[in-house]
Amino acid sequence: MARAAAVLLALLVPTICAATASAAVVEHTFYVGGMGISRLCMNSVIYTVNQQLPGPIIEVSEGDTLVVHVVNASPYPMSLHWHGIFQLQSGWADGANMITQCPIQPSATFTYVFTITGQEGTLWWHAHASMLRATIHGALIIKPRTGRYPFPTPYAEIPILLGEWWNRNVDDVEKDGLLTGLGPAMSDAFTINGLPGDDAPCGGTFEAEVEYGKTYLLRIINAAVNTELFFRVAGHAFTVVAADASYTNPYPTDVIVVAPGQTVDALMAATAAPGRYYMAARAFESKTVANPPPFDLTTATAVLKYKGVPDYAPAAMPALLPYTDVITAARFYWSLTGLLRPGDPVVPKAVDHSMVVAFGLEQAPCAPGQTKCQGFSMVASMNRYSFRFPDKVSLLEALFRGVPNVYSEEFPGWPAAMSPARKATSVRKVKFNDVVEVVLQNEGYSGALGTENHPVHLHGFNFFLLGQGLGRFDPRMASTLNLVNPQVRNTVAVPAGGWAVIRFTANNPGMWFMHCHLDAHLPLGLAMVFEVLNGPAPYLLPPPPVDYPRCH
Ligand code: C2O
Repeated sequence: MARAAAVLLALLVPTICAATASAAVVEHTFYVGGMGISRLCMNSVIYTVNQQLPGPIIEVSEGDTLVVHVVNASPYPMSLHWHGIFQLQSGWADGANMITQCPIQPSATFTYVFTITGQEGTLWWHAHASMLRATIHGALIIKPRTGRYPFPTPYAEIPILLGEWWNRNVDDVEKDGLLTGLGPAMSDAFTINGLPGDDAPCGGTFEAEVEYGKTYLLRIINAAVNTELFFRVAGHAFTVVAADASYTNPYPTDVIVVAPGQTVDALMAATAAPGRYYMAARAFESKTVANPPPFDLTTATAVLKYKGVPDYAPAAMPALLPYTDVITAARFYWSLTGLLRPGDPVVPKAVDHSMVVAFGLEQAPCAPGQTKCQGFSMVASMNRYSFRFPDKVSLLEALFRGVPNVYSEEFPGWPAAMSPARKATSVRKVKFNDVVEVVLQNEGYSGALGTENHPVHLHGFNFFLLGQGLGRFDPRMASTLNLVNPQVRNTVAVPAGGWAVIRFTANNPGMWFMHCHLDAHLPLGLAMVFEVLNGPAPYLLPPPPVDYPRCH
């Protein structure tokens, strides 16, 4: 109990109604290191930032400059990514391993410096190497500079980080997945703010205390590694007001669906009969195959407790949705619309690059070195290019210094006909301020694997999510796309065997990763990169910072 209470104090962030303050420099030091922990009746060593799981909450106001000194006291070369941050003219600080930097080596340091411009809401930060983000992640909350939200001011805010837990060392799990060719083994539990809850053996349960009649802002982050999640609170409903740090029109719902990489801000009124209520999170399993491989069936719980209610009062459990409830998932994912405020970016009408990116998994022969591979391994591709990370220099440094033979600019704008999928480091080059439209087409290339929902994340930009659907996108559907008030996101859960159309303005020079945010699929190659050229001054990529990690 004592532990849960301590967690609660750290997480319940009071809403401050401060007057407009001037931009500040917010500084943090992040020690990445080992930490002994006991979970699911086992003791293990995990890697965290500052001995915290989830990691420290970063809170800034729009316009602030964030300075994070990272000390890597772990045995793993790694980088930290600021998921959803635009990194305007600070592409060196994006933290995508081998895309915008070489990793910070063990016992090395690097300071990320960037200014947060034109964004507010809930984002997060996480390790961007191996599966380390399972335990190296935290919330990055951007408050409006005015102190005012475009919805009634909540009484308090409750960050809810949904996580995924392995009893084994996650880097070993990752390496094993590469040796078998089938990706990492399934997790042992899900967590809410680092704790699996009362359903798990030797649980440990996060608890949030609320006052009757007050309204709370839940900042929900899916920090799970490989699993989309349903989230519910017994006896309570929500009004979604933002997703991926972009405001939405108020959307009432009693279930939140959130894919790895995504965030959802939801208002929740504490107007149930005072008591104790479970929050619960469990898997949304979207695979369209008769016998899907085993997945983590556990349910993470946390407790919402009304002030004055004793701790021993029994807690009510929400009705759990079937794991495969694709209808509920689609209703949630497809129903949100963007809140249009004066001055907000609007959907650009003219498109400079109209792309189709078809992607999916397929079976491939075991590769040499895959010593545990039996029969076949899995490979993923985008337009038949299976992304291969460079190993000598990051793409951004190669671009900036003109290093040859690191990448090619041949990534096609439509599904190329070639088989098998080609392993390559290929990028798509676009000019500064070009408008890029991508039809993301989710394919199943091997019948035995079926298809599944893939959360596709774009670094460096928000995109307008103009529409989604099942089957193949037909250009005649263009007239049904929402060009008026589409949701604005950085990660879209592309339906299994379906499509999503996104549009963004490439207004930031650099190398911007676009990839599936299921970590299981990243080493398989489910990724590509946009190379955005310099614009006119001042829209130039500056030189790298002096302590930019050297490649080894
Ligand atoms: Cu949140 Cu490239 O990742």
